[in-house]
Amino acid sequence: MSSVDIQLHAALARAVAGVPHHELRGRVAALSHRYRTEQVVDTAPGMRDALDALAYAVVRMPATFRALHVALAMAERHVSSPFTTHLDLGGGTGAAAWAAASLWPAISTQIVERQPAAIRLGKQLATGNFSSSWTSADLRDWTSPTTVDLITIGYVLNELAEETRRDLLRTAAQSAKTIVLVEPGTPSGHRRTIDARELLISHGFTIAAPCPHQGPCPIDWCHFAARLPRTELHRALKDGTRNYEDEKFAYVVATRSPVRRAAARVLTRPIRRKGQVVLDLCTAAGTSERVVVPKSAPAYRVARSAGWGDESPMIS
Ligand SMILES: C[S@@+](CC[C@H](N)C(=O)[O-])C[C@H]1O[C@@H](n2cnc3c(N)ncnc32)[C@H](O)[C@@H]1O
Repeated sequence: MSSVDIQLHAALARAVAGVPHHELRGRVAALSHRYRTEQVVDTAPGMRDALDALAYAVVRMPATFRALHVALAMAERHVSSPFTTHLDLGGGTGAAAWAAASLWPAISTQIVERQPAAIRLGKQLATGNFSSSWTSADLRDWTSPTTVDLITIGYVLNELAEETRRDLLRTAAQSAKTIVLVEPGTPSGHRRTIDARELLISHGFTIAAPCPHQGPCPIDWCHFAARLPRTELHRALKDGTRNYEDEKFAYVVATRSPVRRAAARVLTRPIRRKGQVVLDLCTAAGTSERVVVPKSAPAYRVARSAGWGDESPMIS
């Protein structure tokens, strides 16, 4: 576990102290069902009160934090300008703010969220860990008060009606140099990410990651995975037995700043067989290609150490 994961878990453990587990378990089950069946929309919010916010924070926030951290690390790697000002839209209990603060401790983050219970808990969790600033607002009629280096929109588009989603992206496109979007790693999350990607390209943005190209997406379901430890509390509340989980997510980093694109991106978990590695790559030419790298090839060592989601040299 990284030190930030430990800090987050400690903050969550403090927040649940004294809350009866059976009550929290009931909320976790109901909330998970609502999110799994994609019933969380504008008119039916996911988090309705303090106990819902706590349930979300305990079982979802460590995972959304990890996915956002991966996407922001990609922004740091592929976008050439620094991030000093940050707006997080639909910030929930603050996962993106935690991720940004862990990468850039001096960043100034403003979190926009409409659920008072999420804001209260988010403030409580952040206290003593990093400074955060919160705005209570509805994204359906949100306009940015300022221009920032970075806007994050994490796991939010799926809660907005299509028109609201497009309006929000247009407003974001006028208000930030770089936009990082993260969605669940489901086929529909992929489609929402691709739609957003197209809209941002039409507004003059360059795609910095994960795509090594600006053209149409060559695959049906682009998604990645972030592995995170499951705490005892998490396992107790979600009936899990494994001590880790893989958070599947789709993301895009779009920017108006110069980019340093990858030559290729590893699209799936590499298959390592005796004497060869099989990689599925998205290429700079905008194609997806399966390459088999035998032990005798000069690229074998690079291919052997590549992981799902990593940047890769072009191997043919
Ligand atoms: C699934 S949560 C994601 C929270 C956080 N971004 C994360 O990654 O953990 C979606 C968040 O978007 C917020 N949200 C949804 N629709 C909103 C709206 N119209 N205005 C403001 N916030 C909204 C919800 O209240 C919720 O906190």
